[in-house]
Amino acid sequence: MNETVQPPSLAEAIQDRPEDVVDESTSEVKMQARDVSVFYGKKKAIDEVSVDVFTEHVTAFIGPSGCGKSTFLRALNRMNDTIPSASVTGTIELDGEDIYASGMDVVQLRARVGMVFQKPNPFPKSIYENIAYGPKIHGLAEGKAELDTIVEKSLRRAGLWDEVKDRLQDSGTALSGGQQQRLCIARAIAVDPEVILMDEPCSALDPIATAKIEELIDDLRGRYAIVIVTHSMQQAARVSQRTAFFHLGHLVEYGHTSDIFTNPQQQRTQDYITGRYG
Ligand SMILES: Nc1ncnc2c1ncn2[C@@H]1O[C@H](COP(=O)(O)OP(=O)(O)OP(=O)(O)O)[C@@H](O)[C@H]1O
Ligand SMILES: [Mg+2]
Repeated sequence: MNETVQPPSLAEAIQDRPEDVVDESTSEVKMQARDVSVFYGKKKAIDEVSVDVFTEHVTAFIGPSGCGKSTFLRALNRMNDTIPSASVTGTIELDGEDIYASGMDVVQLRARVGMVFQKPNPFPKSIYENIAYGPKIHGLAEGKAELDTIVEKSLRRAGLWDEVKDRLQDSGTALSGGQQQRLCIARAIAVDPEVILMDEPCSALDPIATAKIEELIDDLRGRYAIVIVTHSMQQAARVSQRTAFFHLGHLVEYGHTSDIFTNPQQQRTQDYITGRYG
């Protein structure tokens, strides 16, 4: 008899999905991308992609390495602006407002559309300061008491408060990897975002820390629109309500997660989810 413990299969992950309590008829489009292309110099990395991101949904971006998931994710809060060769065409709206319009305040935009990266990147400052910094520069707190409240609330919401409440002055970098990632999520939450973008947030974490982040993502969904890039199809199946499959810069298929994984309409999606490439 084979006693080896196998990780859950994709089929099991789909079967174990919590019931989606999202009411499609009332769910609101938070971000709308239309015919978005992203270039690095002359090279097109994203080709005319159109996607809606819904409030109170987790949207997963999947696809083989180099297909443009991170590039497209970065276009959603203008992080590509920081790459000199990058340019974006098409339109991306947040609540109907063009985020690439010339009057858009990019600092404000990145508070509304926060980002969590693959490698946890706390500031080399105290746990408290990691959270307090954003609210301070955005003028969200009147004084120390209000700032303390925001710090506590953000850490609680990120499921980290009980682990750090007695060591708020310790350096953020002294935490474990999983704690650091939850600290980065708390930091994104602290400025009261509407959308949270996560680029492979668990890829540097062990399975227990990963499970905690996945639970947290599910909790946070009630409040924000969340977009997560992941290489783990099990993870996409567990945490997301919608999945977009990218291949070679194209959006091949976008739909309800259960449909994408159980009844894909495109051969390329089928090939990817059955592990034929990737
Ligand atoms: N800063 C950059 N300058 C030039 N080309 C880039 C840059 N970043 C990404 N690219 C190219 O754009 C394409 C898409 O890359 P991207 O990082 O978005 O893919 P990805 O789907 O996130 O891949 P992975 O799963 O490996 O993270 C690739 O061909 C990549 O080489
Ligand atoms: Mg990437």
